[in-house]
Amino acid sequence: MYRPPRVTSNSRFLNPWVVFVTVFAVVGIVAMIVGLLIHFLAFDQKSCFYHSNVQIMNVEYNDQLSSPGTQEYRILSERIESMITNAFRQSNLRNRFIRAHVVRLRQEGNSVVADVVMKFRFSRRNNGESMKGMVQAILQQMLNNSGNLEINPSTGITTITDQDTENILTQACGARPDLITLSAERVIGGTQAEEGDWPWQVSLQVNGAHHCGGILISNLWVLTAAHCFRSYSNPQQWTATFGVSTRSPRLRVRVRTISIHNNYTPATHENDIAAVQLERAVTFTRDIHRVCLPAATQSVTPSSTAYVTGWGSLTYGGNTVTQLQQGQVRLISTNECNASASYNGAILPGMLCAGLLTGAVDACQGDSGGPLVQEDSRRLWFLVGIVSWGYQCGVPNMPGVYTQVTAYRDWIRQETGV
Ligand SMILES: *[C@@H]1O[C@H](CO)[C@@H](O)[C@H](O)[C@H]1NC(C)=O
Ligand SMILES: *[C@@H]1O[C@H](CO)[C@@H](O)[C@H](O)[C@H]1NC(C)=O
Repeated sequence: MYRPPRVTSNSRFLNPWVVFVTVFAVVGIVAMIVGLLIHFLAFDQKSCFYHSNVQIMNVEYNDQLSSPGTQEYRILSERIESMITNAFRQSNLRNRFIRAHVVRLRQEGNSVVADVVMKFRFSRRNNGESMKGMVQAILQQMLNNSGNLEINPSTGITTITDQDTENILTQACGARPDLITLSAERVIGGTQAEEGDWPWQVSLQVNGAHHCGGILISNLWVLTAAHCFRSYSNPQQWTATFGVSTRSPRLRVRVRTISIHNNYTPATHENDIAAVQLERAVTFTRDIHRVCLPAATQSVTPSSTAYVTGWGSLTYGGNTVTQLQQGQVRLISTNECNASASYNGAILPGMLCAGLLTGAVDACQGDSGGPLVQEDSRRLWFLVGIVSWGYQCGVPNMPGVYTQVTAYRDWIRQETGV
């Protein structure tokens, strides 16, 4: 009847389970304290946004300042942004200031007013309203030091929410997510697009099936390629969808009218551009809004980086895909693209080549009518090309050929008023 004890040692301190549990608990508690410290010192911060109407007294308003695509607009906005940035970088808020961005320039009397949004990161104890006085004081000090821009000294600021900032930036053109949140970083990774990455991308569909890409340029107008309508020209057959998936789109809108360029020539692909009017205006959101259009005078810089997006097939002759793809390409000079080793004279005025000379990244069937975009120095995205044609897809020395948007800037204004 003798039963040996289950526990062989009667010293509880040497019990390996007790040692294990004790060590585990101590390590856990230390890790928790370190974690909390890091959290409170580094991450317990929140973004605060302010808005200001900065009136510039000594710059006379002119028409060139009405569109973000002009050189004048870009230069003046950059001067205002760097003036504000420098003021905060030299202040005791230097580690709190993230970005300032001019959303819009407008006329007031004879002078110019810049709509500016600013982002800061403050610790959670300080809300935007409590820090407002300090931000305002630094801006006031800046007025004494604004170089040759003369700013109205009564310039004030208001506290706005994240949502207000998002609304302001989605009403303006060309903002991708990094600009909408006034984030310090910019990221474009991989080949598959995330929701909201290319908010102006449209899928133009015939009887519910993806047929061509399109580009949202206002809440009512979509640009695309003329050749998309060769087989289906009745607007009633067409719908436009928004969002990265063609299978479960964010929004579907019927097409009201299709305006094809009068001189579109299928044999040479000349004037391959069309404007599509939607049946109703879309409401701009973070994931659906318009791209910026360049000024007609904007020059094209060979070998600069651009992005092409679409649901086109990944290989020549393949099927279209349901998730939006993105590809980084470079602009190619017309001389090079028109040379005998390349398209041998087929590149006509109003066309633009882009791709990689190795052919690794290219637009393909189903991408037609979609956007080729570039980012400007202020992180606004501009439409430079519309996917038009090419010899197969991704063939070395045979890059994608695009309708050059600057060449049709006046046509676009005439057809759409944009
Ligand atoms: C701006 O400069 C004037 C004179 O140079 C000075 O009186 C004023 O206090 C300054 N204002 C600020 C906000 O620094
Ligand atoms: C490309 O070459 C052809 C033939 O030489 C010429 O007619 C055409 O104008 C050239 N394209 C451009 C954009 O100059």
